[in-house]
Amino acid sequence: MTFNPLEERGIPLDRQLRNWRELNVTPIDPDHADPYTRCRIITMNGIEIEAIMFNRHLARHCPDLEDRQQLAETRFIEAQQQKAVNWLLPGLASVLETTLAYEQVATDLTAWIARMEPDPYLKQAYQFGLLEDFDHLYRYANLFEMIEHRKAEKVVDALTEVMPGRPTKMHQRHPIDNVREPYDRNTAAPISKLHALTIMSAEQQTMNFYMNVGPMYMEPIARQLYQEIALIEEEHVTHYESLVDPGETWWEQLINHEYNECYLYYSFMETETDPKVKAIWELHLNMELEHLRIAAEMMRRHDGREPQEILAPRLPAPVTFEPNKGYIREVIATQIDYTTLGTGYVQEAHERFQRWQAQIHGDQEPPSERVIDENRAKSGREYRLESEGTHPMYSLRPH
Ligand SMILES: [Fe+2]
Ligand SMILES: [Fe+2]
Ligand SMILES: [Fe+2]
Ligand SMILES: [Fe+2]
Repeated sequence: MTFNPLEERGIPLDRQLRNWRELNVTPIDPDHADPYTRCRIITMNGIEIEAIMFNRHLARHCPDLEDRQQLAETRFIEAQQQKAVNWLLPGLASVLETTLAYEQVATDLTAWIARMEPDPYLKQAYQFGLLEDFDHLYRYANLFEMIEHRKAEKVVDALTEVMPGRPTKMHQRHPIDNVREPYDRNTAAPISKLHALTIMSAEQQTMNFYMNVGPMYMEPIARQLYQEIALIEEEHVTHYESLVDPGETWWEQLINHEYNECYLYYSFMETETDPKVKAIWELHLNMELEHLRIAAEMMRRHDGREPQEILAPRLPAPVTFEPNKGYIREVIATQIDYTTLGTGYVQEAHERFQRWQAQIHGDQEPPSERVIDENRAKSGREYRLESEGTHPMYSLRPH
């Protein structure tokens, strides 16, 4: 593959604006769409929301009017892209159904990135988070069966297994133990920077989604489970955002964001199975090429650096949604009892972790445990989708 976004020509910015008719995308078919098409939509929605919010924060730091005007112009296009992407989701899905899809994204995207990441410290960070979002999927799947009387296999379509990962009640850690060591902007491989941005954006959108939709349910157990998991997503965003080198200049961060948008649209264009959705990935790639060119010019002006000094000479292999069942089972078998201590990982429940756990759980079983007990009482067994055999950990087999 020789696609170099710095050498390709995109659509000029003044031709990127879409009218209402062009923005009125046809949603995917809720019953027949490829679950991984929905995963790609959810991922790109998170990426576009990060593009908008990052651009805003940058603009708030710009004393120069022309910079703020340029950023506003690009930001409006990012905002239209976000609408086009997220409106591909069909209105029929319930909040919980969409939640299952969000955790499927967190599982299969994080697993893929963990597999591809060359830096061992970063790889460990992805493997660690993977086992937690994988467990969220299992907790929500039990809630889904209990209150909507439907099965998660209708949503994840047997591409992703549903069974316990690292139990959700163990995810509550002291905030200082969620802050990782960043990569070094001067020596990190370009792919490592892209991975960190991608997962940070996806987790951030999951955090935002849960904090807004959690109170939309009436059932007490649903309201409580969303609170619990929303606070874990807060931890996950801290975990992943701290991987990005804070020494990057604002302009360097901007160019990394635009380059990552190019990379992901290109990846999804290459792997998309739905031709209508594929056309949107292609259109947006052509818009992002121009955003990248503009960001490069701003960096040249402010930092006096060339984009080639920072970015990869060509795009890495495409980000691919595919089953990661064997890989996840392997990580479960070796890392299930990990927690964090400072910026590292340990296997024992240290003192600060235990103190935090005691404070946050109080005298109650957390909602993530009660949801399983309640579903077992109601459905006669808990919900699982173990397509590859019994659970790799004896202690986590159904009892
Ligand atoms: Fe964008
Ligand atoms: Fe999660
Ligand atoms: Fe997460
Ligand atoms: Fe962009």
